[in-house]
Amino acid sequence: KVIEATGRYVCPGLLDMHVHLREPGYEYKEDIASGTRAAAMGGFTAVACMPNTNPVADNGSVISYILQRAQGMPSKVYPIGALTKGSAGKELTEMADLKESGAVAFSDDGQPVMDAGMMYRVMQYAAMLDLPVISHCEDLSLAGGGLMHEGPISAMLGLKGIPAAAEEAMVARDILLAEATGCKLHLAHISTVGSVRMVRQAKERGLKVTAEVGPHHFTLTEEAVQGFNTNAKVNPPLRSMKDVEAIKEGLKDGVIDVIATDHAPHAFHEKDAEFQYAPNGLIGLETAVGLVFTELVHTGILSVPQAVARLCTNPRKILGLPGGFLDIGGVADITIIDPELSDVVDPGKMQSKSKNTPFGGRRLTGWPVATLCGGVLVMENRQLQE
Ligand code: NCD
Ligand code: ZN
Ligand code: ZN
Repeated sequence: KVIEATGRYVCPGLLDMHVHLREPGYEYKEDIASGTRAAAMGGFTAVACMPNTNPVADNGSVISYILQRAQGMPSKVYPIGALTKGSAGKELTEMADLKESGAVAFSDDGQPVMDAGMMYRVMQYAAMLDLPVISHCEDLSLAGGGLMHEGPISAMLGLKGIPAAAEEAMVARDILLAEATGCKLHLAHISTVGSVRMVRQAKERGLKVTAEVGPHHFTLTEEAVQGFNTNAKVNPPLRSMKDVEAIKEGLKDGVIDVIATDHAPHAFHEKDAEFQYAPNGLIGLETAVGLVFTELVHTGILSVPQAVARLCTNPRKILGLPGGFLDIGGVADITIIDPELSDVVDPGKMQSKSKNTPFGGRRLTGWPVATLCGGVLVMENRQLQE
């Protein structure tokens, strides 16, 4: 078997550390089979999945269930456990049991209700277990049921805004608590000038703080919401051009460690609602590499090795996973990217069960053209290998 690689980049298998696979509980949006097919198409040999399932991944048996369902799938799955029971913010989960069952981190993502005292206690425990806490970073009292970024467009559309401070207040708090507890803190989907600045300062002070951004936050602004486009409704919201620029700068200088998609599938009928009722989230697995190459690599913001660090080696280091350049001699997890392949995003052709992407019709240059997961060729020439 010959795999064509002339003019292509052969990279260690990419890992998306922020994905919602929706199983168990919301299989009509996505399941582990469809989500891992979307991952393989997108060039990801592994994903880490968030605990906002039903039941919530708050005990070892849900983690074991996810791992068992992920057997033999075209992308590896690393589950993330919930920080509190039912993600209700009241009672600690059995974090040691979650770790024992295979959880690689703990998060409040999707159901952020952690008050400072509870976050302090979970961080103390996570520090003891030496696993990272992944914070969704949203102060609900500041977000106040807002529907999009608070700014000129929200005023024009008459939609209640979410101020940048709703994110930044939580980023500040969680950095402070991470310092106090010695916990490894990973800040999910940061999106504002102020968040990037605080992460930069935390790193300068030598704290164990890492951060990620989603492709939608370096490619789109609040303007995408115009026309009440529910596929541009996401949490945190699409921000201003200044925020986009700060994120690109943070990616370039390494302040932002990771690009992760926050792949958040929702069914057509859910996104087909009025803007105020549509759920937050957009899918990202099958457009991430194209967006990174088109908007960051071809524009000179990131070199290819820097892009691979954000999509593979850094998330693996944060989650303590093998692979990437850390695992010479391990089984082959490999992603091959054609940097010059140009094509238009077609949601109809995607593997994800849900089609809620704001990038339909957008031309991207640089696509994954082969994925090897555990030594098996699972995708070639943008076709899944059955
Ligand atoms: C996510 C979801 O749908 O689970 N939605 C979103 O807008 N990002 C939850 C989350 O990542 O906070
Ligand atoms: Zn979140
Ligand atoms: Zn998420």
